[in-house]
Amino acid sequence: MLRRRLLGALLLLAGAAAAGSAGPVLSAELRGQPAREVSPAFLSLTIDANLAADPRFIPILGSPKLRTLARGLSPGFLRFGGTRTDFLIFNPEKDSTLEERDFWEPQVNQGICGVRSIPTAVEELLLSQWPIQEKILLKEQYWKKYKNTTITKSTVDILYSFAKCSKLDLIFGLNALLRKPGLQWDSSNAQLLLDYCASQHYNMSWELGNEPNSFRKKSGIYIDGSQLGQDFIHLYHLLRNYSSYKNSKLYGPDVGQPRKNTQKLLKSFLKSGGKVIDSVTWHHYYVNGRSATREDFLSPEVLETFITAVKAVLQIVDGTVPGKKVWLGETSSAYGGGAPRLSNTYVAGFMWLDKLGLSARMGIDVVMRQVFYGAGTYHLVDANFEPLPDYWLSLLYKKLVGTKVLKVGLKGADPKKLRVYLHCTNNHNPMYKEGDVTLFLLNLYNVTKHVQLPHNLYNKHIDEYLLLPHGEQHILSRSVQLNGHVLRMVDNKTLPALTKKPLPPGSTLGLPAFSYGFYVVKNAKAIACI
Ligand SMILES: *[C@@H]1O[C@H](CO)[C@@H](O)[C@H](O)[C@H]1NC(C)=O
Ligand SMILES: *[C@@H]1O[C@H](CO)[C@@H](O)[C@H](O)[C@H]1NC(C)=O
Ligand SMILES: *[C@@H]1O[C@H](CO)[C@@H](O)[C@H](O)[C@H]1NC(C)=O
Ligand SMILES: *[C@@H]1O[C@H](CO)[C@@H](O)[C@H](O)[C@H]1NC(C)=O
Ligand SMILES: *[C@@H]1O[C@H](CO)[C@@H](O)[C@H](O)[C@H]1NC(C)=O
Repeated sequence: MLRRRLLGALLLLAGAAAAGSAGPVLSAELRGQPAREVSPAFLSLTIDANLAADPRFIPILGSPKLRTLARGLSPGFLRFGGTRTDFLIFNPEKDSTLEERDFWEPQVNQGICGVRSIPTAVEELLLSQWPIQEKILLKEQYWKKYKNTTITKSTVDILYSFAKCSKLDLIFGLNALLRKPGLQWDSSNAQLLLDYCASQHYNMSWELGNEPNSFRKKSGIYIDGSQLGQDFIHLYHLLRNYSSYKNSKLYGPDVGQPRKNTQKLLKSFLKSGGKVIDSVTWHHYYVNGRSATREDFLSPEVLETFITAVKAVLQIVDGTVPGKKVWLGETSSAYGGGAPRLSNTYVAGFMWLDKLGLSARMGIDVVMRQVFYGAGTYHLVDANFEPLPDYWLSLLYKKLVGTKVLKVGLKGADPKKLRVYLHCTNNHNPMYKEGDVTLFLLNLYNVTKHVQLPHNLYNKHIDEYLLLPHGEQHILSRSVQLNGHVLRMVDNKTLPALTKKPLPPGSTLGLPAFSYGFYVVKNAKAIACI
């Protein structure tokens, strides 16, 4: 008798274990307030200032195709910055180069997007010369040897019209390495630039300097945090002298990875200048592009290192300027221009999507992706204007993921290897309603995972948006398919439809080995999303 009961209990236990092995199960908090809320510009973009290192190449931004692609990712910021920020000198007297001036004719009847757009022949010429320029830029970056270059009124005009036509808000990084003998910032060149931008009624916001923690390495000049704070205060007052800019925003200090000395600099900067900035900006990369491997891009441990970096920065901000918004002012997978054959392929999506997920969850307000277009391999759009997997991933993110962050958990799998995030669905997406929620998942297991929805999301209609690599290179492919359809532009002015795959109520979410996808749960009636 006793033996039989024991056997029964054992069978029950085995049964429970079998049910458990049916797959990982989610839990989601749909009542009450959202856990966090981020900016509508959460996913934002950068153009590296090195695109202006030779201003002949700036008109690339006049490409209608590039503008179509950028517009797909609005709303957002377009940050023009990077190491070159501190080596660009504005000269309002200098004529634009011949190449620049040639395409000034605005095309009629095209509104702002006709302005500064370039004819195909010129575009092709620039593109054919770009690979050489790209090599020069990467070499310069490697040796950390930078020369000053002059930018002209047309450089600023093209940048501004690119941003405007793409419905992005331009953030311009001013040169912080122009110094007076006493090491205070010399604002005279910035004033010339502000004068010009104000005369054109350009509505933009500002930064001052890029990665000041490595000024000494780049230029031999050491600026401490407290001096840099004073320089920001000076810029703040200078902006107040322009009716166009007296309410414009100022962001900084764009420090690099939060290592010891950089943390110190950030702290003293915030103590001295924190009150005049609108958001605290810092930069993050997971790995060095020259040594990064495929395994790094798939490693849960590498993804987790981001958490430590975020915590370090948030702790400093809480201790100096509590409540101030924190932005990733420049970020990507691998520094040094990206990791060749990795940063521009499907596998880069794990770092990108996970960074977006963790950032929102941890309270980062805006994440600016290095780069939209430019030298290296971490771009969203390649040198031939072909959108890469991270472009399509960003586009889906924009369309499906809203600003409100919800709590989500996972049982029955290692949450570091099966990573899950939950937001309210983007309430500007006409296909969805208030109360709908968007899950996104990353499967770092080498086998398919079938994820079960929690009871409060069970029996709902779900739209699946599964991204998988396309072609023989598998996860190292530069082409992706959405629900089985390869993503490519329809033509230079038209992005493809992002076709959902409806799943019947009660479905599990099947994620193949090494893949990621989005799932909109319709009619979820999440209180936090109403
Ligand atoms: C750039 O120009 C500034 C101002 O003339 C000068 O102080 C600085 O040394 C120059 N930097 C380089 C790298 O030539
Ligand atoms: C400038 O741009 C900001 C951000 O898009 C916007 O909120 C503001 O209204 C604009 N200002 C003017 C004067 O157009
Ligand atoms: C702003 O303008 C006032 C009055 O013209 C001037 O005294 C002040 O120095 C200016 N501030 C800056 C930072 O240039
Ligand atoms: C999957 O990964 C495990 C270790 O996590 C390993 O033992 C197994 O061989 C891998 N399977 C395949 C098909 O690669
Ligand atoms: C589309 O853009 C590409 C590259 O920007 C260009 O080569 C091509 O001629 C354009 N096609 C049309 C129809 O304008």
